Amino acid sequence: MILSSGPLQGFTDDIFRSTHHQVWGGIDFYYGPYIRLDNHKPPKKSQLKDSLSELNKSINYIPQILANNPELIIEQAKALNKHGYQHLNWNLGCPYPMVTKRNMGAGLLPQPKIIDEILKSIISEIPMKLSIKCRLGLHKDDEIKALIEVFNKYALQEIIIHARTGKQMYKGFAQAEKVIPLLKQSHHKIVYNGDLDSVEKYNELHKLFSGHIHHFMIGRALLKKPQLASQIKGTAYVEEELQEKLFLFHELLFEKYQEKLHYSHLLMKMRSFWEYFSYSFEQQHKTFKAIKKSKTIKKYNIAVKHIFSENKLSLD
Ligand SMILES: Cc1cc2nc3c(=O)[nH]c(=O)nc-3n(C[C@H](O)[C@H](O)[C@H](O)COP(=O)(O)O)c2cc1C
Repeated sequence: MILSSGPLQGFTDDIFRSTHHQVWGGIDFYYGPYIRLDNHKPPKKSQLKDSLSELNKSINYIPQILANNPELIIEQAKALNKHGYQHLNWNLGCPYPMVTKRNMGAGLLPQPKIIDEILKSIISEIPMKLSIKCRLGLHKDDEIKALIEVFNKYALQEIIIHARTGKQMYKGFAQAEKVIPLLKQSHHKIVYNGDLDSVEKYNELHKLFSGHIHHFMIGRALLKKPQLASQIKGTAYVEEELQEKLFLFHELLFEKYQEKLHYSHLLMKMRSFWEYFSYSFEQQHKTFKAIKKSKTIKKYNIAVKHIFSENKLSLD
């Protein structure tokens, strides 16, 4: 069984990925948040730094690009390959209008001809394996059918399908059943992504696809319940042990972010982390509220101690 961690820009950064691997394991591949390649400006330094971080050496890391210009894609692929990476992922799923209006991410999904042209230009020029992460479509959930025909023309490592449309953003439910016919249509390995948030859900999805999925990618649920991948792989935690590990995970992340970030940035980073991590506790809303109220590091540390000593874990 192969499990991967989906990229979440602003959340699954180098520190998160390597600390998650160190404490929990269970994830075979960590896909990096995108490096955006625009025609008129260089990529953000923070995105490049994250993809070239030394911390990626402790995990199986796959960098991702968000782009539509073949020259920029080839140039970036060569640069990443020089740093030892052998596999590049192309983002065709980002749903934000600032991206889709510029014909990037999910904005390309209704335009199979353009995707075809880009793939034709880059496939033999990039010195690494290429995979694609896409959605079912931008507006409609059947746009993917024409795309699979295009993908079938090229040697691609795998197609990761987030079973929502771009229009859905991150709302509503992923439509796993829409992926079933694509397993037959595609010549490539298919990776499923969307709403995999419990061991029961994994078992359901595994049954639905009759074992024909190459692997499963976990998105937001790995931030809410960092133990999920190891649980799917069979590790059972007693409550006390889980509590200790969650505490350790938090402490390590805090220490590492503290080395890198100044005061207000550190608080902001930890607050974002708790946006999802608070779901590890039964009273998620109350837990996150206590973090949001902490405006100094001292108050933050008191709030964290209180949460771990007073709040019950959510064990479902
Ligand atoms: C805040 C946020 C940032 C994301 N950033 C990226 C990204 O950089 N690249 C990408 O391919 N997907 C990104 N995603 C999508 C996730 O990788 C994943 O496909 C999506 O959350 C669906 O999986 P889930 O239902 O298991 O969460 C992001 C999602 C969220 C909520």
